[in-house]
Amino acid sequence: MLNALLTRAKAGEKIAMLTCYDATFAKLMTLAGVDVLLVGDSLGMVIQGADSTLLVNMQDMLYHTRIVAKGAPQAVIMSDMPAGSYEYDLAQALANAQALIQAGAHIVKIEGGGHMVDTARYLVEQGVPVCAHLGFTPQSVEKLGGYKIQGKTEQAASAMLADAQAMANAGVSLVLFEMVPAALATHITQNISVPTIGIGAGAGCSGQVLVLQDLLGIYTGPAEKTPQAYKAPRFIQNFLGQSGDIQQAIVTYVQAVKSGEFPEEKHSY
Ligand code: KIV
Repeated sequence: MLNALLTRAKAGEKIAMLTCYDATFAKLMTLAGVDVLLVGDSLGMVIQGADSTLLVNMQDMLYHTRIVAKGAPQAVIMSDMPAGSYEYDLAQALANAQALIQAGAHIVKIEGGGHMVDTARYLVEQGVPVCAHLGFTPQSVEKLGGYKIQGKTEQAASAMLADAQAMANAGVSLVLFEMVPAALATHITQNISVPTIGIGAGAGCSGQVLVLQDLLGIYTGPAEKTPQAYKAPRFIQNFLGQSGDIQQAIVTYVQAVKSGEFPEEKHSY
């Protein structure tokens, strides 16, 4: 399933990806034609109510991966490796990645560039498909000083290109860019050998991902703020508002990604 999707992406078909945390939405997303269901560690915020992804652990990821797989046995499922489960030790990274695959994931996602290339290579060599998450990496929110666009300076842009190329050479199947200038994500997409997925990274990526709650217009900001006082990231688009029907909102998202109508310039940096 994953290989067939990568072949379609390399032939120019846009990939529509959405976060998914349970069996009911997994079923619905499969019917709506979503290509990849991402069991994201964003569940720490949108399901568990935390203000970052940092407290999500392997038990959480295994539970949500299992229930998503139950609802969508035919879908491509990507699961996030949570903070602390892969950064320090290759053997531990492999054991945790394999546990996610056994729970139903087809590919795991790890955050970070240069220092994570050896981990990505090791996982791929051991037979675990990997997606590399570059740009804004939520597990490093403290180090990055908050939710900030990455790759804005010439030096940072060159480093991101080098990281993406190194990850592709290490054998990852996909590279995901979060909050990266559209021109940079497009340039990197044109200069690496694997498809790319963007969130706040412009229309030049090979595909797009959104957090389900953002697509449905559900407030995901901090509990101490009101939706009116919250400045949502510009890449968020409420697809439910246009259709009034959840299934149709997801279908509309898939169609908009496939046709290149989403994201627009106003969603990009
Ligand atoms: O966890 C998540 O939902 C993600 C997306 C923001 C790409 O990693």
